Amino acid sequence: MNNYVDKNEVLYHVGFTPAMLEGAEVALLPGDPGRVQALAEALGDTKPVAVHREYTSYLADVNGMKVLVCSTGMGGPSVAIGVEEMARAGIKKFIRVGTTGSIQENIELGDIVINHAAVRLDGASTHYAPIEYPAVADLELTNLLVAGAQKAQVKYHVGISVSSDTFWPGQERYDSFTGYVPRHLQGSVVEWRQLGATNYEMETATLFVVANSFGLQAASVCGVVAKRTDSEKVAPPDVYSRAAQGFQATAREALLMLAERE
Ligand code: URA
Repeated sequence: MNNYVDKNEVLYHVGFTPAMLEGAEVALLPGDPGRVQALAEALGDTKPVAVHREYTSYLADVNGMKVLVCSTGMGGPSVAIGVEEMARAGIKKFIRVGTTGSIQENIELGDIVINHAAVRLDGASTHYAPIEYPAVADLELTNLLVAGAQKAQVKYHVGISVSSDTFWPGQERYDSFTGYVPRHLQGSVVEWRQLGATNYEMETATLFVVANSFGLQAASVCGVVAKRTDSEKVAPPDVYSRAAQGFQATAREALLMLAERE
């Protein structure tokens, strides 16, 4: 028996009540609170919902289907807290939109990657299910993202993310304060590439495990802002905005198709 909250109860971390979501069952989840308003406005009529900690939220109307756009902040713990509270407020489908670093030669800056699975290099997901449990996307939502990318004519790839709790050692970056990567993570970029993983980011595995363990649906699309086969650096703002346009257009087309089905 799932534990929903009363429609007028303010959820402690996200700062909204279920009533404020007007029956929304779909959420778009950027990491960055600063991206929420633009994402919501690209979807249709919109109104602000709440601003609390890393969770900034807007409600958008996509051809009659209400969509919550709510930031998660960075990393697994913030995602897990946000998804817990959104689920208790009635959200059933979660789509992460964010940025990523590619680790395969053929994935270029500004491309997008739709992740159908993720390596659990996080800690938060282990509090929900043992490490043997897979971090996999929902097939229906993932197919919608692929169709959305095709419709928006965005260059996309489908693959496995490596979701790391850290931006530096977990993603084997040496341009950190000490420049040191612990031995067990040295060589990990080459190893994940050899094993066919496509990209690094910090949230997808937690989202997939938490959503699946709740019996809810989740998918993920990210724009490429670092090409790790060339450099550890994150690309300049023009690349960032091309990547953001890619995941925004993809998510928008996917949500328009979902609204038609509902
Ligand atoms: N986000 C990450 O976690 N890693 C990158 O390289 C780029 C964005």
